[in-house]
Amino acid sequence: MALNEPLNRKLRMALVGGGAGSFIGRVHSIAACLDNRAVLTAGALSSNPERAKSSAPDYGIADSRAYGSYEAMLDGESKLPEDERIDFVSIATPNHTHFEVARAAVEAGFNVVCDKPMTFDLAQAESLLETVQNSDVVFAVSHNYTGYPLVRQAREMILSGELGEINAIRSQYIQGWLRTQLEAEDQKQAAWRTDPAKSGAAGAFGDIATHAYNLGRYMTGVLPDSVSCHLKAFVEGRKLDDYGTAVIRYENGALGTVTASQISHGRENDLEIEIDGTKGSLRWRQENPNELIYRQNGKAHQIYTRDPNAEYMTGSGAGACRLPSGHPEAFFEAFANVYTAAFDAMAKRAAGEKIDQRDTIYPNVYDGVEGMYFIQQCVNSSADNAAWLPLKHAAARK
Ligand SMILES: NC(=O)c1ccc[n+]([C@@H]2O[C@H](COP(=O)([O-])OP(=O)(O)OC[C@H]3O[C@@H](n4cnc5c(N)ncnc54)[C@H](O)[C@@H]3O)[C@@H](O)[C@H]2O)c1
Repeated sequence: MALNEPLNRKLRMALVGGGAGSFIGRVHSIAACLDNRAVLTAGALSSNPERAKSSAPDYGIADSRAYGSYEAMLDGESKLPEDERIDFVSIATPNHTHFEVARAAVEAGFNVVCDKPMTFDLAQAESLLETVQNSDVVFAVSHNYTGYPLVRQAREMILSGELGEINAIRSQYIQGWLRTQLEAEDQKQAAWRTDPAKSGAAGAFGDIATHAYNLGRYMTGVLPDSVSCHLKAFVEGRKLDDYGTAVIRYENGALGTVTASQISHGRENDLEIEIDGTKGSLRWRQENPNELIYRQNGKAHQIYTRDPNAEYMTGSGAGACRLPSGHPEAFFEAFANVYTAAFDAMAKRAAGEKIDQRDTIYPNVYDGVEGMYFIQQCVNSSADNAAWLPLKHAAARK
């Protein structure tokens, strides 16, 4: 396929966030450019204008395209001729800033790849959804775990009925890095994640349970009905939850659990999901992402390895691989798969074709709203002694 057909050129990327000392911005730049379909052209890399500009050479961004703020960037880029200006904006800043940056980018006509949770609160998410619906932009949310080949494989197996009816979805995202009050030591990533003014109403649940919940929705397509949740801050002085469990009732009668922890000794980035169907069960772990375990009673357990040439691989599973089996692929490649799917849509849009904003292989603005609804209802339920509250889903939204 020609480069970004039918556009037939690289897409020009702008990065917001990612300045010196930050985490995920660099991952966005690597993932977006991994397949040579995009080039990082412009950036507003930090909340501090000087640092924003001084971080630009680290990314090879020219001085003329290194901006002191996202406002200046959108303004400057909008004034450039069409064949020079950026095509999309990637947002890798703390949660409280996502909404304003994303809304301004969409209103300026740029495609957006926004990190999760999509916004600070649900009201912002609903408002952003409306803005996106009133535009023709491509809007992706970087729930990057959906990009793993064996996650897409599992999804296709489940949606084609191989597991039978889905009865249970257990996902957990277990970390240990906030076991101590790291925020009191001014550690950058801990400081804003534990600050309700920057993180939002939830801590661990906003930061990582959203990924675990999204993964269950993505892999099964089963529609949620209601949720009951317990959240707790175990570390003294912490203002937001660092541990919690949600129980979910699904419309088809299935039950789910989502557990998130930031305080489990020795646990690194252990996102795991198990799905029980009437005909079989599946298990996938992001710390060992090139294996998917399929089990049926009375039969030997099967380990599916990530092998693009194996006859057991589905189209979307094989299509998400870059390397032959046994050559480990992981975080960057999966992140890049979210980007490549969004690029297909961006190229179509640039060529004047109509794109579907809802039915996409990459997580989109509707998934972003679902994530925010999940966070809000978990926080509200926990505050009300784990009361059962409704859990709306994207299909119910026009
Ligand atoms: N998808 C994932 O796997 C994943 C992983 C980590 C973080 N995240 C999400 O990515 C976002 C950033 O997290 P992080 O850990 O990289 O944070 P970080 O604190 O390491 O970096 C944030 C960067 O954003 C910059 N920034 C803040 N406000 C800005 C503004 N108004 N304009 C321009 N730059 C601004 C900061 O200066 C910093 O460079 C969060 O929303 C987080 O939830 C997602």
